[in-house]
Amino acid sequence: FEVLWDAAAADKGGWSSFMAKEVSEEPEAVANTIRGRVRDGQVVVPELDGMDALFADISRIIVIACGTAAYAGAVGKYALEQWTRIPVDVELAHEFRYRDPVIGPDTLVVSISQSGETMDTLMAVKYARERGARTLSICNTQGATIPRESDAIVYTHAGPEVAVASTKAFVAQITALYLLALHVARVRGTVSSAEGEQHVRELEAVPEKISQILDREQARIEEFAGWMADTRSVLFLGRHVGYPIALEGALKLKEISYIHAEGFAAGELKHGPIALIEPGQPVFVIVPSPRESALIHSKVVSNIQEIRARGARVIAIAEEGDAAVLPFADEVLRIPLAGPLMEPLLAVVPLHIFAMGLATAKGLDVDQPRNLAKSVTVE
Ligand code: G6P
Repeated sequence: FEVLWDAAAADKGGWSSFMAKEVSEEPEAVANTIRGRVRDGQVVVPELDGMDALFADISRIIVIACGTAAYAGAVGKYALEQWTRIPVDVELAHEFRYRDPVIGPDTLVVSISQSGETMDTLMAVKYARERGARTLSICNTQGATIPRESDAIVYTHAGPEVAVASTKAFVAQITALYLLALHVARVRGTVSSAEGEQHVRELEAVPEKISQILDREQARIEEFAGWMADTRSVLFLGRHVGYPIALEGALKLKEISYIHAEGFAAGELKHGPIALIEPGQPVFVIVPSPRESALIHSKVVSNIQEIRARGARVIAIAEEGDAAVLPFADEVLRIPLAGPLMEPLLAVVPLHIFAMGLATAKGLDVDQPRNLAKSVTVE
């Protein structure tokens, strides 16, 4: 018999694409990023040991990044502010540098980059340093340029990411931001050790919950993504931590399926985007947990009713047991119950699967989308 083998297929480990392999590795990307950074139930990032002075008297944090990494930063803002009580701004690196930002030694600039080589992000880090800010980089590539230019580094341990569109690095970046937030909160005493331990336990439970989504929902999501291959436009709505996830869901679809996609803050719907809704328009809605905030949950459910009344085809991403969405949704994708702020790490998984499923149904190369590069090393 003949053995059919080629190097690329071997690297994909039997998966049809690097992206499929990398989405399947999202649980490990989170678990490996946490590993070695929890001591006696508290987050202690060894790379930041002895660097307490870096966080001692900062009065603000600015997160800079591009693309998917910027959306990870936008999720991280909620945890950083909630746990450290330091005000956080998130900015696209290429905008930050050209607006004469008010920064100085009391500013911690946190850059996020999978490759560590994105020129826009690198130039923004250099600029921040020249202005006297402290710099910390979250990076997936050992020894890359951006970490070398930074005062401190927290590596994500997602493993090599080959597909142009970022997936496992995204969940690893959010994880690293949460670890950073808990580390800084411990140093500054803004979270009690009991609360810190609780957040760590909830973060540590995430990989298993991502695996459950992959096991239970992947085949169904791929199937309905296949039916939607002729769709011309998809909208994504989210609120609170679901908002950056809506933006990430839309970005992934643009990147690999070339379908017009936009993400909106659900509360903004009535200020404009609802005009886009016409019969048949597919809209993904990331539904916040009713256990966390009944108020925010009810507001998103009424957004769903508003768009449904105008004919939208609603695909809700909601936690298990949330029955409020059932009468108004055409599809409900379930995510397991999780602790506060952990929902984005779960809700993004169906969106990654959906983008991949739709691009595959259109016969596109999901790993090498047109016009894009994995790492953009020009400005
Ligand atoms: C490119 C890639 C995106 C990525 C962005 C930032 O545009 O196509 O997928 O999110 O760069 O990359 P980085 O390596 O800095 O995270």
